Amino acid sequence: MTPHLSVLLALVTTCLGAAPAGPWDVFNLAPESRTVYPRSIHGSSGIALDSQNHPAGGNYTLPNNGSYVTLDFGFEVGGLVSLNFDSATSTSSIALAFTESPEFIRPYASDDSANPSASTTYDGVLQVPSPLTTGYWIQPPERMRGGFRYLTVSSTSNGPVTISNISCTISFMPHVENLRSYDGYFYASDPGYDDPDFLTKIWYSGAYTVQTNIIPVHAGRQYPPVPSPGWLNNATIGIAGPILVDGAKRDRTVWPGDMGVAVPTLFVSTQDLVPAKNSLSTLFALQNPNTGALPYAGPPFGSYINGSDTYHAWTLIGAYNYFLYSGDIAWLKDTWSNYTKAVQFLTNKVDHTGLLDVTDTEDWGRFWQGGHNSEANAIFYKVCSSSQRLFAAELATYLNVSELVDGYSSNATSLKTAFNDAFWSSDVGMYRNNLTSTLYPQDANSLAVLFNLTTSAKQASSVSAGLTQYWGEFGSVSPELPDTVTPYIGSFELQAHFASGNDARAIDLLHLEWGYMLYTNISVQSTLLEGYTSNGSLYYRSSDAYDYDPAFTSHSHGWSTGPTSALTFYVLGLTVTSPQGRTWSVAPHLSGLPSAEGGFETPLGWYGVRWTSTADAFNLTVETPTGTSGIVTLPVSGTTSVDGNLVQVDGASLPLSGGNHTISVQF
Ligand SMILES: *[C@@H]1O[C@H](CO)[C@@H](O)[C@H](O)[C@H]1NC(C)=O
Ligand SMILES: *[C@@H]1O[C@H](CO)[C@@H](O)[C@H](O)[C@H]1NC(C)=O
Ligand SMILES: *[C@@H]1O[C@H](CO)[C@@H](O)[C@H](O)[C@H]1NC(C)=O
Ligand SMILES: *[C@@H]1O[C@H](CO)[C@@H](O)[C@H](O)[C@H]1NC(C)=O
Ligand SMILES: *[C@@H]1O[C@H](CO)[C@@H](O)[C@H](O)[C@H]1NC(C)=O
Ligand SMILES: *[C@@H]1O[C@H](CO)[C@@H](O)[C@H](O)[C@H]1NC(C)=O
Ligand SMILES: *[C@@H]1O[C@H](CO)[C@@H](O)[C@H](O)[C@H]1NC(C)=O
Ligand SMILES: *[C@@H]1O[C@H](CO)[C@@H](O)[C@H](O)[C@H]1NC(C)=O
Ligand SMILES: *[C@@H]1O[C@H](CO)[C@@H](O)[C@H](O)[C@H]1NC(C)=O
Ligand SMILES: *[C@@H]1O[C@H](CO)[C@@H](O)[C@H](O)[C@H]1NC(C)=O
Ligand SMILES: *[C@@H]1O[C@H](CO)[C@@H](O)[C@H](O)[C@H]1NC(C)=O
Ligand SMILES: *[C@@H]1O[C@H](CO)[C@@H](O)[C@H](O)[C@H]1NC(C)=O
Repeated sequence: MTPHLSVLLALVTTCLGAAPAGPWDVFNLAPESRTVYPRSIHGSSGIALDSQNHPAGGNYTLPNNGSYVTLDFGFEVGGLVSLNFDSATSTSSIALAFTESPEFIRPYASDDSANPSASTTYDGVLQVPSPLTTGYWIQPPERMRGGFRYLTVSSTSNGPVTISNISCTISFMPHVENLRSYDGYFYASDPGYDDPDFLTKIWYSGAYTVQTNIIPVHAGRQYPPVPSPGWLNNATIGIAGPILVDGAKRDRTVWPGDMGVAVPTLFVSTQDLVPAKNSLSTLFALQNPNTGALPYAGPPFGSYINGSDTYHAWTLIGAYNYFLYSGDIAWLKDTWSNYTKAVQFLTNKVDHTGLLDVTDTEDWGRFWQGGHNSEANAIFYKVCSSSQRLFAAELATYLNVSELVDGYSSNATSLKTAFNDAFWSSDVGMYRNNLTSTLYPQDANSLAVLFNLTTSAKQASSVSAGLTQYWGEFGSVSPELPDTVTPYIGSFELQAHFASGNDARAIDLLHLEWGYMLYTNISVQSTLLEGYTSNGSLYYRSSDAYDYDPAFTSHSHGWSTGPTSALTFYVLGLTVTSPQGRTWSVAPHLSGLPSAEGGFETPLGWYGVRWTSTADAFNLTVETPTGTSGIVTLPVSGTTSVDGNLVQVDGASLPLSGGNHTISVQF
């Protein structure tokens, strides 16, 4: 092809994402090319490092058994490692070891993904069979490593071997040509902190984390685990791909609770909703035809574990979110009878107390699930209220379900009353874990605020203030999973502080918990940890004593990416209130910042917000597609003009039609 044509094609490719170019692009962690090379040599033993050993080229001679080199890709990657054997003897052999955290850099073992054993060396290494033939070598697909930053190549014999051209071909988001092409962006400078770009960085960190969680449908983790040493990532994990899973390294499995955070993240960043649909359809297809129960997790892992009322409910919330974001009415029509049956499954567990009595007790890892549990009831409330909206919005006309809509609505109202009567402690100013508990959990309290189970702004603020008692040196430590920081529940807590108007507190939590995850040198300094202990060390606890193995922790877990959607939904204040954004809301939370901008594109067009806040003015521009309409809620009051015309503001709300608008409030 002529040079002109290739330049043109490159332009076309980079223009696919709708987000405008700008200073935020340097924080986008997705690589330019699917082939990524190590950025530096982290360490070595028994080899001569000289000017020939360039991290992204050059060659390494491993002279004898035990000699090794550890290469650092500089950020979280995942895919197939390839290299060239330049020379080898008939007895030469090598082994590859992978790890996310530098704490598990070892020539003799990777970090763990297959099984959380008591030892941290379950996965072992990938042995490259001897004799080695010179030339190009690529990792077998089933031994692909879904998430790592460090690669150690070691010799396992005394026959010298020279290797070069070491790279990783990214395997996540297989359907997307340009991984950097986003349909959304966010940018805000925060001059009050050491790193003024922190908020922008964390937005892109969350977006990239979820990208690493979108994988080919035949590249899931095998379960039951293969015997140690070993791992296999060739399980079929759903009905179609690409598919959204919980984590890059593991579980590489569909998990509905995780989607409660990950799906909003991908909505505001890549808009890559098809993998979310495939995950949801996978869960609905596995619905128990007799009871209506949905699985706790997708295959193959899901069939080895018991049921979960909360994760069942998260699949229903996932369906609501997917429809709200995509407007995919055809999918909803296919799914609605399974959906209503699944709501009925929960409704059948409501007893004389008016509350859901949890009998399928698996959950995100917390202790003390079961019975009249407040977290489960908060999630059930969200199911009732969003079911009402889901069916009222679109389906009533298609499916003649107005009776259902009324039923969901009145059940939501009764549940809210029962919830407050049962769980609210006016002494403590928070919700208790269950009817008899003296524990005030992070999950139920965060979700109660976020899902509007509170009945006044004062009550919501009391909960927000109460949650700070759990803040430690490295983040919010869940009382319902002692000694553990869970950025999954932290993602809901973060939103609860914004939702209750406690923006400064939200920003403080962001710096405390996500600042730790992004900067700590025990993680990958790019994507986000699944969880860690209260002293910041690696170790994610679980109520069933499942993963007592610090090498098993995932360093790229979509459930920890709450800041990405929170910055768009609250700091920009931009949300859609009906499918695809036919109606929308802009309600900025100034959060002590001088300015913020960003937006996203849906099939209807571009939604963009830009605001500045100074001592004498608040200025806002809103761009939305023609034909839509929305409400702007002003964070300040004063002399207000819209598109240059003075207006009287009723409360703080300004109804606007689609198009471009400039709003200015002068004090
Ligand atoms: C290693 O790299 C150097 C410099 O590029 C080159 O001269 C040399 O031939 C290479 N060695 C092998 C065995 O490929
Ligand atoms: C290489 O070293 C390891 C560890 O010392 C040892 O177990 C193994 O037998 C050695 N292999 C060879 C081929 O010498
Ligand atoms: C080096 O690796 C890349 C990426 O896998 C591959 O495309 C290329 O062909 C390799 N080079 C050689 C000389 O084999
Ligand atoms: C996965 O890979 C293993 C090892 O190569 C193989 O035995 C197994 O059949 C593969 N499973 C599937 C589902 O392809
Ligand atoms: C609904 O559930 C049944 C099993 O109860 C399943 O066979 C079917 O595929 C599901 N339908 C959809 C659209 O998910
Ligand atoms: C499921 O629950 C039963 C009853 O509590 C228990 O015996 C069994 O071990 C559980 N199964 C799994 C896979 O956890
Ligand atoms: C809607 O349902 C009601 C009650 O079940 C029924 O009487 C009515 O005929 C239905 N309407 C349509 C258009 O199907
Ligand atoms: C509302 O709750 C009642 C009582 O629990 C139940 O019978 C009914 O099915 C529920 N309605 C809907 C639409 O879920
Ligand atoms: C209520 O929660 C407490 C922990 O606060 C727990 O010990 C107790 O078992 C729970 N009760 C029920 C019925 O699950
Ligand atoms: C929250 O619930 C209250 C009633 O308790 C209601 O007035 C308010 O509109 C709800 N807020 C939202 C955002 O739905
Ligand atoms: C805000 O808008 C007003 C009116 O258009 C303008 O005079 C002022 O310079 C703007 N302030 C900032 C900080 O952009
Ligand atoms: C809004 O402004 C952008 C440029 O900032 C322009 O491309 C777009 O066409 C405008 N939309 C409308 C509806 O005027």
